[in-house]
Amino acid sequence: MSKLRKVDVTEEQKKKILEIVDSYKDTEGSLIQILHDVQDYFGYLPIEVQEIISDAKKVPLAEIYGIVTFYTQFSTQPKGKYAVSVCLGTACYVKGSGKILEKFEENLGIKAGEVTDDGMFSIDACRCVGACGLAPVAIVNGEVYGKLVQNDVKSICDKYRES
Ligand code: FES
Repeated sequence: MSKLRKVDVTEEQKKKILEIVDSYKDTEGSLIQILHDVQDYFGYLPIEVQEIISDAKKVPLAEIYGIVTFYTQFSTQPKGKYAVSVCLGTACYVKGSGKILEKFEENLGIKAGEVTDDGMFSIDACRCVGACGLAPVAIVNGEVYGKLVQNDVKSICDKYRES
């Protein structure tokens, strides 16, 4: 069983989250966009942050939790020092990015959406990042790796391990 750590959300962070929620008050069906924007701001969506959104939007926490855990672009965990993001957009997927993602998971010993115990790495899947010509693509802290084959994964991970 994974240990649940309580995440402290400061008053200032809470205020900013409420501002984001409020900025969509006139937009129907904006929950996913709100979750995106809050994740961009806070970095991830722990349950404490989901509760704030739930209260402000008057949407049941279970519904928000369902969305956050269903879509791979949302994370309930903080990102690692090196955040690996594997594109599962169509062009990348047909060129085998699913297998590339599995290789990263295997090499780092975590699943997509998780972070290593030492906080060094996290893995996420993402949608098309606009580099389809380089498919399959993975990004580590903004650095794009294209035309990946499964054997590339180890050297990419090692490069960051050693840095
Ligand atoms: S589908 Fe991966 S970059 Fe476009």
